[in-house]
Order: sequence, then structure tokens, then C-alpha cells
Amino acid sequence: MIEKSFVMMKPDAVSRRLIGKIMSRFEEKGLQLIAVKLLQVDEELASQHYGEHKDKPFFSGLVDYITSSPSLAMVIKGDDCISVIRKIVGATNPKEADLGTIRGDFAMDTGRNIIHASDSPSSAEREINLFFNSNEIFDYEISDQGWIY
Ligand code: TYD
Ligand code: MG
Repeated sequence: MIEKSFVMMKPDAVSRRLIGKIMSRFEEKGLQLIAVKLLQVDEELASQHYGEHKDKPFFSGLVDYITSSPSLAMVIKGDDCISVIRKIVGATNPKEADLGTIRGDFAMDTGRNIIHASDSPSSAEREINLFFNSNEIFDYEISDQGWIY
């Protein structure tokens, strides 16, 4: 099923100049970028985005990190892309993430794990609406249907 997912390169990915390398992994897999913007996440947006974690001990550190410098927000479209992207991203703790995943290859610390990806269709819809207006999303068709890598 064709899905849309919200993916965001966190401040460490942007500051470490990893945007191009990370973006390539999604494109090379056969997924399609349909929205993208660089933005400075503020405390309010960070709290809404990570609302499910507000009572966790790591919450304030997470908000400090995500608001520390610009992030790159994206909407990515493709066949079963929510679960496919979570596989490409890898486990939350980069030390446990498989090599070959983004977190496994580029990060060492859960608190600096460089990328966010929606974990379900309902969170994807919520997160896309939180970060993007509908006129910022370009839901165009590509004739190769994603099977050309
Ligand atoms: P979570 O939703 O559990 O992970 P994921 O990003 O893989 O969906 O947690 C959200 C973010 O919170 C996670 O990417 C990094 C941060 N975090 C910590 O800093 N410490 C922790 O112990 C956990 C579980 C998460
Ligand atoms: Mg999560």
C-alpha cells in the first residue's frame, strides 16, 4: 500500500553535513520525497511532536537537543514506506542499530540519533499535519512506480 511518512533529520545530522548522504538512502531504495524544509523546531513544536514522551526522564534533554539548531523535515512517499523507512533508520539506540542502517552507520548515542521517522500510519498523519501545510506537499506521480533503483 502506498503510504506517506514523516521523517526529520535532527540538528546533529544537519550540523554534521549528512543531509545529502541520508537523503540518498531513501531515494536509492525507491522512495519519493514529496515535501522538504529546513526549520528551527521551537519548544512548543518539539513538545507537540514528542507529546507521547512528555513524562519520560529523557524528555527535557530531547527537547533541548531537537531545538538546538535547524532540522530538516520531510514527507516521503512509497510502498509500505512507514515500516520500510523505520528499517532504513534502524533501532533507537544507535549502538544496537544494525550496520547498514542510518543510525547504525552514523551515530553512537540515543540522545543524538540523528533522525526521526513515524512509527505508524496514525503518527505519520499527525506528524505530517504538525510540520507541513497541505500546499507544501507535492504529491506527484513518478512513472517508474518505485521499482527502478
Ligand atoms: P522513541 O520514540 O522511543 O524512539 P524512535 O525515535 O526510534 O521512535 O524516542 C524518541 C526519541 O527520544 C529517540 O529518537 C531519542 C530519544 N530517547 C532518548 O533520548 N532516550 C531514551 O532512552 C529513549 C527511549 C529515547
Ligand atoms: Mg518514536
